[in-house]
Amino acid sequence: MNESTRVANDAVAAETAESTISPRKLAHVVLHTRSNLDAMVEWYCTVLGAHIVFNAGRLVFLSYDDEHHRIAIAGSEDLAERPPRAVGLGHIAFTYDNIEALLVTYARLKQAGILPFCCVNHGPTTSLYYYDPDRNRIELQVDNFPDMTEATTLMQQQFGVNPIGEEFNPEELLTRLHSGVDPAELVRPTRTPRPPTRELIVKLIGL
Ligand SMILES: [Fe+2]
Repeated sequence: MNESTRVANDAVAAETAESTISPRKLAHVVLHTRSNLDAMVEWYCTVLGAHIVFNAGRLVFLSYDDEHHRIAIAGSEDLAERPPRAVGLGHIAFTYDNIEALLVTYARLKQAGILPFCCVNHGPTTSLYYYDPDRNRIELQVDNFPDMTEATTLMQQQFGVNPIGEEFNPEELLTRLHSGVDPAELVRPTRTPRPPTRELIVKLIGL
């Protein structure tokens, strides 16, 4: 590459970087279902404490905050079932304010017969994973650090050894919370990271 080409390329790269505008937020998710429309709507309303904003029959819009919709569920009987190990979305994650809120939600959902299939302290987050009625994976999580920079640094330091995390028992966490343990202490990873087990990778990600 000659000097004038390099200068021209650098100028284009600088201009592109300047004009790159990232979105302000992640707005919503649309899920397609075949025969589970009612069950899916009920599940998301229960799990997320959401409500129906608009029901267009085969297309239902839900929200749980000031956004007009966070989840939309579209039903059509002629859709194909997704085979196991298919390409596509892995999971969707929702963040709670603190570990108390996450554990209260865990207990409420347990009462409703909805249990997580995997509970993992990822390092940056403490996460409960659920299957919705179509077996989409839904993560309910809390940030383990008030400062995202700290969480990002931890990821960069530890994910080379273990990018998955370690399983925990939410009942144990609830007991410790009720016994007065500092909530921050409940979620901070304490152990030196070890590689995740094959069993956990299969259970959590399905790969
Ligand atoms: Fe996640």
